Amino acid sequence: MNFLVVIASSRSDGNTAKLSHVIADSLQAQTVDLQKLSISYFDYENRNKSDDFIPLIERIVSSDFVVFATPVYWYSMSAQMKTFFDRITDLLTVNRELGRKLRGMPISVVATGTDAELPSSFKSQFELISGYLGLVYHEPLYCCCPDEFSLQQHQQAIQGYLNKIA
Ligand SMILES: Cc1cc2nc3c(=O)[nH]c(=O)nc-3n(C[C@H](O)[C@H](O)[C@H](O)COP(=O)(O)O)c2cc1C
Repeated sequence: MNFLVVIASSRSDGNTAKLSHVIADSLQAQTVDLQKLSISYFDYENRNKSDDFIPLIERIVSSDFVVFATPVYWYSMSAQMKTFFDRITDLLTVNRELGRKLRGMPISVVATGTDAELPSSFKSQFELISGYLGLVYHEPLYCCCPDEFSLQQHQQAIQGYLNKIA
C-alpha cells in the first residue's frame, strides 16, 4: 500500500508532526507538510489555480490511503487543513475529472490535543466531508498531549491504529 500522510499543523516540529512521523515511519509512507506549501484560501474566481493545491491533489489521488494529521485547534481541524478542504470545492467545479478520482479513496485522521477526548464536532466534520466526497473514512487516532508528544505514552494506541489500517 502506498500511504501518504498530510500534516497540517502550525508548527512543523510540534506534537502532530511528531505523531505523524511515527505513523509515516511505520507505514513507510511519504509525508507532505501543508505548512511548507502555498495553498491559498478558496477563491470563487479561481485566481489561485496555479498554487500548490492541484499538485498535492495529484499526489493524493495516486496514493492508496491518505492519513490527514491535524492538531485540534478550537474544537476543530487546523486552519491549514480547513483551507485544504475548502479548496476541494475547486474539484467539484473546475477540476471535476480529478475530483472524481477521490471517490472510494480510503482516508483516516490522526490528531493531537490537550483535552481528554476528541470533540464530537471534530469527528463529525470528517465523517460528513468523507460522506459528501465518497471517501472511505476509517476510525481516527487521537493522542491527548497535555505536554510534549510522548511516544511511550501513546505507543499502544498507535499500534492498535496501525493494525486496523495497514
Ligand atoms: C490555537 C489553539 C487552539 C487549541 N484548541 C484546542 C482545543 O480546542 N482542544 C484541545 O484539546 N486542544 C486545543 N489546543 C491544544 C493543541 O491541540 C495541542 O497542544 C496540540 O498537541 C498541538 O499540536 P501542534 O504541536 O501540532 O500544534 C489548542 C492549541 C492552540 C495553539
